[in-house]
Amino acid sequence: MSDKIRYGGDYNPEQWPEEVWDEDHRLFTRAGIDTLTVGVFSWSLTQPAEDTYDFGVLDRILERAAAEGRRVCLATGTAAVPPWLAHAYPEVNRTDFEGRRHRYGQRHNFCPSSPAYRRLATALADRIAERYAGHPALLAWHVNNEYGGACYCDLCADAFRGWLRDRYGDLDALNDAWCTTFWSHRYTDFAQIEPPSALTEHWRGPDHTAFQGATLDWSRFTTDALLGCFLAEKEALRSHDQDTPVTTNFMGMYRPLDYHRWAPHLDFASWDSYPPLDAPPTWPALAHDLMRGLKDGAPFWLMEQTPSTTACRDVNPLRRPGELRLATFQAIAHGADAALYFQLRASRGACEKYHGAVIGHAGRDDTRVFGEVAGIGTELAALGAVALGARTPARTALVFDWDSWWALEISDGPSRHVRYQDTVHAYYRAAREAGADVDVVPHTADLTAYDVVLAPVLHMVKGDLAARLEAVAARGGTVLATFLSGRVDAHDRAFLTDVPGPLAGLMGIRVDEWDARPPDVVQPVRLGELSTGARLVFEIVRPRGAEPVGTYGADFYAGTPAVTRNAFGTDGGEGWYVATALEQPGVDWVVRRILARHDLLGPHADQPAVETAHRTAPDGTRLLFLLNHAAEPAQLTAHAPATDLLTGERVEKQAPLTLDPYGVAVLRLQ
Ligand code: GLA
Ligand code: ZN
Repeated sequence: MSDKIRYGGDYNPEQWPEEVWDEDHRLFTRAGIDTLTVGVFSWSLTQPAEDTYDFGVLDRILERAAAEGRRVCLATGTAAVPPWLAHAYPEVNRTDFEGRRHRYGQRHNFCPSSPAYRRLATALADRIAERYAGHPALLAWHVNNEYGGACYCDLCADAFRGWLRDRYGDLDALNDAWCTTFWSHRYTDFAQIEPPSALTEHWRGPDHTAFQGATLDWSRFTTDALLGCFLAEKEALRSHDQDTPVTTNFMGMYRPLDYHRWAPHLDFASWDSYPPLDAPPTWPALAHDLMRGLKDGAPFWLMEQTPSTTACRDVNPLRRPGELRLATFQAIAHGADAALYFQLRASRGACEKYHGAVIGHAGRDDTRVFGEVAGIGTELAALGAVALGARTPARTALVFDWDSWWALEISDGPSRHVRYQDTVHAYYRAAREAGADVDVVPHTADLTAYDVVLAPVLHMVKGDLAARLEAVAARGGTVLATFLSGRVDAHDRAFLTDVPGPLAGLMGIRVDEWDARPPDVVQPVRLGELSTGARLVFEIVRPRGAEPVGTYGADFYAGTPAVTRNAFGTDGGEGWYVATALEQPGVDWVVRRILARHDLLGPHADQPAVETAHRTAPDGTRLLFLLNHAAEPAQLTAHAPATDLLTGERVEKQAPLTLDPYGVAVLRLQ
């Protein structure tokens, strides 16, 4: 699509006078900005009434972009409905979890089952595609924006019943799947089924449900209902334009939607990165790798990040000097082929007027932020095409599964404090800080390319996954599973076998009991020479062929295994089981031992603040990204001869290599 990494962001010039557009483009040129995301929230301008379309402003925005040689990621603009639409068709407004029908306001809140919304959103996408297909500025289609949430209205309830009928065929199958005999819930008519909400099966919020099977199916239905909206718009786009790639911007680790169900329908993945304030750098990295995994490792777009500060939080700190550059190269290191901002120029009013922007209200090009943005623009121009289309040569996979996430967190017992993302992140972090490239993959992924497969808190085991994990170990690989894995089938019904269910053979263990303690209780665990702690859940493991690697140091299970290793097959494969939520040093200890078995520790594994990531370009060029996440310089020794593509300098093997605070090097390995 381009001879360099795309650079730009959300651009909403319909919000300010056209005289300012000249200045916008002058500044874009200065900053090396080549890509504009346009029209995300312009529905009320492009369709001021049901029977009136007006593309005048959008025409001029695209014409201007084309004249300047910039390309446009064009939104269908259906994420924020105009007031006339919600007033004419109140069904478009969602009904919330508490059963309240909302009135017009905000955005991202249309009912996915509303025929009026579906018809009008699709019609708008159709008009836009008809008008702009083949436009010289058009680069990609951006459907809607950050799909999310759920609606509990009567239309959605009906659609849910239809979804269940398609899935189960008859009520016997559904009653069986949901275990409805429990608490006298046997349904005799699909019409009796209600969406699980605060008015029905839930108490104390969305995580507490009387029927996990029903709530899981509701999450799957919601995912599919919103996907249906996307697909309707995509079909409208495709009726006018068969070629331009179509995406919608995801939100990384976003619990409400199973993005793996969406992935086949995207032409490329894209996402908006706004990491939690206290998140370590491995948090956005995990989300990048999850997004890359959606399209089987193909590059994705970083569709949004803030150049400086968010606005939506109670406290919105600035990105420190150098942090934006580091985050941008981190995205590229993990597979981004585009680095875009929200937003290019700050809006004058409403709730995002203080959100960071490349160009602030004063329109200056001599601010710190503009300078950093322009500096990155210069570097991306210099980097050119070298990283485009590059792949991550990972030999370690981490299985990420929305069903397990949902099932774990809506479970009553053993502990509400076990959070899926925290546990997955702990293992991901251990592998990444040890320098391993990691593919974050769905449970259906082909695992044959991996030496190590990490499957933390895989609460639900579906399909032939257990057999594919055994196959990894049978050819000499290592599989890691943890506490609260292999517990339930696809309907959240407990396996009628020893824990960990289908993983028990590979792990060579049996678990009969599990203890849960409050978060402040830390139990000592001994792992070889390391004394560490563990929290939350303590499974009591009875080895059935596995050998203990670590042991609990307290309570009536003191001296019993907390971590085990099971030799599997005849080619040196192993199944490792971690029966408790080890603190990070314990997780690191385990993961580093596993990586070392396969010679997968990275060249700078002794420097956890220095992130390393490899990418291999289509022409075979091997790139190594070095990212110093510390506020101090990092002193490294080059492990291979290379050229630093950002400085042009040659690096000899064993030569000292200094990274500035928050510094970045992009090495082309020889
Ligand atoms: C999201 C949205 C944008 C904007 C930013 C602000 O990612 O897609 O429209 O609201 O957040 O951070
Ligand atoms: Zn609805």
